[in-house]
Amino acid sequence: MKILVIGGGGREHALVWKLNQSAHVEKIFCAPGNPGISEMAECVPIAVNQVDQLAEYAESRKMDLTVVGPEEPLVLGVVDEFKKRGLKIYGPDRQSAKLEGSKAYAKSVMKRFGIPTARYEEFTDFEDALGYLRVQGAPIVIKADGLAAGKGVTVAETQQEAEAALDDALRQGIFGEAGQKVVIEEFLEGEEMTILAFVDGETVLPLVPSQDHKPIFDGDRGPNTGGMGAYSPVPHLEQWLTEIQRLILKPLAKGLAESGQPYRGLLYTGLMLNESGPKVVEFNVRFGDPEAQVVLPLLENDLVEILSASCEGRLNEVELEWKKEASVCVIAAAPGYPGPPTKGLAIELPEFLEDGTQIFHAGTRIQENTLVTSGGRVFGVTAQARDVEQARNRVYQLMENIKFRGMQFRSDIGAKAL
Ligand code: AMP
Ligand code: GLY
Repeated sequence: MKILVIGGGGREHALVWKLNQSAHVEKIFCAPGNPGISEMAECVPIAVNQVDQLAEYAESRKMDLTVVGPEEPLVLGVVDEFKKRGLKIYGPDRQSAKLEGSKAYAKSVMKRFGIPTARYEEFTDFEDALGYLRVQGAPIVIKADGLAAGKGVTVAETQQEAEAALDDALRQGIFGEAGQKVVIEEFLEGEEMTILAFVDGETVLPLVPSQDHKPIFDGDRGPNTGGMGAYSPVPHLEQWLTEIQRLILKPLAKGLAESGQPYRGLLYTGLMLNESGPKVVEFNVRFGDPEAQVVLPLLENDLVEILSASCEGRLNEVELEWKKEASVCVIAAAPGYPGPPTKGLAIELPEFLEDGTQIFHAGTRIQENTLVTSGGRVFGVTAQARDVEQARNRVYQLMENIKFRGMQFRSDIGAKAL
């Protein structure tokens, strides 16, 4: 099979790496890809939001399957466009992608199907929002409704911070259209966990749980990022899995299917866990980044078989199998991140990689024959071992051999599991 992967970050490198192990793969193409991906796939210079060009390419080059990494093309309707042309593509259609593309829509869906989540109201008017905020008080969470490149959520500890976030979104318009509506949501305490699941209508196949680390600094301090590292499985939170299936994944899939909007694709559920039970923090409509980097190396199955089965409505025939190991990914970030990162810094990498370790490229490019930084998250450095502790040791050892000026990384990825 010829497979096209859309995207060019660490998640897509992990997807290409896993797809490349499939017996069904003849060649992988990746748009736009990155220098790491180019070692196992042909990179195609088409941006992820150029839906027509992507479809044109897949059609003319006769792709047998397309796999979508990021949310943007999904929200833009890339799946609808491919299907219109009779092309096989894995991912939710534009309507289903609204689960990530609009926080207000996601909340309304959860309300409709009785899925546990934080209490909320939505607003477009600043004064109305302010009135509600003053009644609720801090801590409280303000979310821009639309896609805001991971920057649309403010967890406000004080009234002042919350008011500033409302002002930014509704009056200053710093998120453009994405912030013209906001969701104001109850602050949830607890520990976060991610459940990815292959979903095809009412069939839900959860992957092994993982946990992301969003804040930039150790101890969960500092501003939020796209994710500074992840590990899987999450042994100390495993007792929640049955409840998560029963209260969240199954009612969502069933509710959507029965309302004529069956979900087809990978569903990311971000959860908050505390003694009152699991609550949904967010749904995303694609693999997590960096969750994909830890979960995919643990998957025994041929990924092409799972995705093909799902595209053909046969996901119920698939049984997932997992390595009895743990996986830890530490993000190496450029100086400046999560603000504007320094680009063009020369990178040193180890010459050899042991089995069970991977360096997934995210923000890299080749400049005058040298590998340099080109984005905030530069690498997802990943290792597998018998348990989280061993995998942590391995990954931090590997980190010592990755060098660029001002490299930032957290030294406590996976520590919550110890
Ligand atoms: P989101 O983009 O919705 O995942 O939000 C980004 C991050 O903000 C989450 O991973 C949480 O750490 C935090 N967050 C979002 N909603 C809440 C909430 N209701 N209570 C506490 N923290 C939240
Ligand atoms: N790791 C968070 C996300 O992919 O949205």
